[in-house]
Amino acid sequence: MTPASTTSRVVPAARLRGRLTLPADKSIAHRALIFGALSGGPSTVTMRAPGRDVLSTLACLRTLGVSIERADARYVISGRPSRDATLDCGNSGTTMRLLAGAVAGLPLRATLDGDASLRARPMERVATLLRAAGAEVTTTDGHAPMTVVGQTPLTATSHRLPVASAQLLAAAALAGLSATGETTIDTPGPTRDHTERMLAFMGVPIHREGRITTLTGPAKPRPFELEVPGDPSAASAWLVAAALHPDAELTMAEVGLNPTRLALVGLLQRMGVAIETRVTGVSGSEPVGELSVRGGRPLHSVAIRGGEVADLIDELPLIAIAMASVDEASEVRDASELRVKETDRIAAVVAGLQAIGAEVEELDDGWRVRRGTPRAASLVTHGDHRIAIAFAIAGLTGVASAIELDDPECASVSYPTFWQDLATVRS
Ligand code: S3P
Repeated sequence: MTPASTTSRVVPAARLRGRLTLPADKSIAHRALIFGALSGGPSTVTMRAPGRDVLSTLACLRTLGVSIERADARYVISGRPSRDATLDCGNSGTTMRLLAGAVAGLPLRATLDGDASLRARPMERVATLLRAAGAEVTTTDGHAPMTVVGQTPLTATSHRLPVASAQLLAAAALAGLSATGETTIDTPGPTRDHTERMLAFMGVPIHREGRITTLTGPAKPRPFELEVPGDPSAASAWLVAAALHPDAELTMAEVGLNPTRLALVGLLQRMGVAIETRVTGVSGSEPVGELSVRGGRPLHSVAIRGGEVADLIDELPLIAIAMASVDEASEVRDASELRVKETDRIAAVVAGLQAIGAEVEELDDGWRVRRGTPRAASLVTHGDHRIAIAFAIAGLTGVASAIELDDPECASVSYPTFWQDLATVRS
């Protein structure tokens, strides 16, 4: 059911003001729940407004026999996965890949499945890693449903990831917990480092040096208490909104400020945006603080390619909107990974930009775009939360003269309070 505050039509705001507290970081929340379950508990995870993807992980862990009791925003996790199960991972690639890694090292069999979008995403990559460590994994022509039969112990393995993916890295590390000896994971480029930070916080011997993550097993995370910070990827919507609006001042409080998640801040600063970052504390081993942004400055064009792409991967649809507000052409290259996200995000971004009047060219691995003549448009989200949020921001800031979304509710996959926050900043 669509909540009352959800709106399918977004028109430009006269001004943007507000101080927001965002939902729990999706990447940290998935890991906290899974690592909590492997700790045997009791572990306590406090998280505001988890999105649908995080709730998928929570439901899967319960199906595996883990007890998770909730009191307001506190979730107390007790017991380890103990039952064979068929798991519905919903729309969430992180749920599927991380749980595959966790089950690989347990004496269990799990079949992992998901919605039509998740069934279209590549799973052979994770299956290959887990097979190398000794688990029995079958996919359906490289996709979900995927069945993992865990083995104990697994074999310590030297992995080379085919793409710079934090999900693959986490799956290999989770398997490494059940292997005797050193598991090493070589990534072709930088990725978010929550797995390393959190497992180290839970007493697991793991560290990253350059491209290589090393974990010595067998190891078990110790029970912990953790408050999940606000999601910097949710903050990105408001960083871009303020950057594009002539009269905007927004602050996001209690946001995770892990440097591997803040590439957008550096990028927007490169484009000329005034952003301040203030660390106010630490949660587990993650820095937390405030992000403040002001609008009203002209933006410069940018080019994004190579190693920069993985750290911006979830932000690229929003960046496309920022690029479409600049007279000179900007481009994104080396981002073909976007084609296997919740939808083909290169195709969806290019179609959306064309619909709102930007001058855009689709490339195999990205796009080239400059400002055109803003138009009102109906947008096909393909049920993809990042596409819905990016184009809502286009409507809010006048990059589109108005936007009509076919599925506004899909924003709740990562950002269940998006529409309330949008109403707050424009009031
Ligand atoms: C995530 C990693 C990213 C990102 C996803 C969450 C994670 O995917 O797109 O939203 O929590 O590990 P990849 O690094 O696998 O591309």
